[in-house]
Amino acid sequence: MQILLTGALGQLGSELVGALRERYGDRAVVLTDVRSDPEPELVAAGPYHAVDCRDGEALLEIVRRYRVKRIYHLAALLSAVAEARPDDAWDINVNGLRTVLEVARTENCSVFTPSSIGAFGPNTPKDYTPQDTIQRPTTVYGITKVSGELLCDYYYRRYGLDTRGVRYPGLISNVTPPGGGTTDYAVDIYYSAVRHKRYRCFLKGDTYLDMMYMPDAIKAAIDIMEADPARLRHRNAFNVTAMSFCPEEQAGYIRKHIPEFEITYDIDPVRQAIANSWPNTLEDYAARVEWGWEPQYDLDAMTRDMLTVLSKRFAAEEGGQS
Ligand code: NAD
Ligand code: SER
Repeated sequence: MQILLTGALGQLGSELVGALRERYGDRAVVLTDVRSDPEPELVAAGPYHAVDCRDGEALLEIVRRYRVKRIYHLAALLSAVAEARPDDAWDINVNGLRTVLEVARTENCSVFTPSSIGAFGPNTPKDYTPQDTIQRPTTVYGITKVSGELLCDYYYRRYGLDTRGVRYPGLISNVTPPGGGTTDYAVDIYYSAVRHKRYRCFLKGDTYLDMMYMPDAIKAAIDIMEADPARLRHRNAFNVTAMSFCPEEQAGYIRKHIPEFEITYDIDPVRQAIANSWPNTLEDYAARVEWGWEPQYDLDAMTRDMLTVLSKRFAAEEGGQS
């Protein structure tokens, strides 16, 4: 199976690449991103091409050259960046997706496209948000994500294209920093806890949002594309979640390992408004039943792992410097 990723250098792509290479082989995974300065260690093992996902001709040429049969379309602007650059967000998130779907249709590729908790809005039920419910997002990011879900459904129904996807919650990881989202605090807090034993949070302490540790996000991306299509009723926008917490609660779990850790607050009104418009916690029954979704990490296990990995890395860096 030859696979192509767009947005391969981002928070999700940079780790999904490793899992895909392990499963399908180094040469089977073709990385693309708009950036022309990829991290050398990421592109050492397999092909990389700097391509804008809106450039259909360039993408088609690469898909044909490598005989690609599956596309992980990860290129997008995240919520906070999108709010600052709404025109770019529409163009990259919607026209970029449409370009990828057209390339996929020409070459009969399956396509994975992540949606988000951002596809919900203030009048969506906030607790145990159902799979199929009201979607009236108030952010440009959310509007592009709902459009993407519908566009992928359309390509499946109209052209029989094998489109699939999940609605990711905030993703937490320790390899590549997040790309400008509202949930970024939940990553930054671990880096700051290990380095400085304190963190100044841009969301209020009682703001609940769904979150997921990166190993579970990767597993979801692979499992849904490997799932038996006959079992899929929803295809493009499966709710998936692993945990729901607020900054105050996350700080409490960090204090189990770093008792002197302190959290203070300096609220960013833009990101707070975005967070307030999103669910507190998702219900992910459809993903569990239709393709066996089951996360491995809760807040406790993730916190332990994040702090262990980051402490070792920073100690090694300091050791290297002295
Ligand atoms: P990211 O911002 O870390 O990475 C996106 C990548 O896309 C970057 O490497 C960027 O250079 C690239 N890119 C931007 N514009 C491009 C263009 N025009 N052409 C080609 N590449 C371009 O984002 P991520 O966190 O890796 O997110 C991947 C996908 O998952 C996105 O669709 C995002 O909406 C979705 N998602 C992410 C999260 C999260 O918490 N990270 C949560 C829900 C959904
Ligand atoms: N983590 C993402 C964001 O905050 C959710 O899609 O933008």
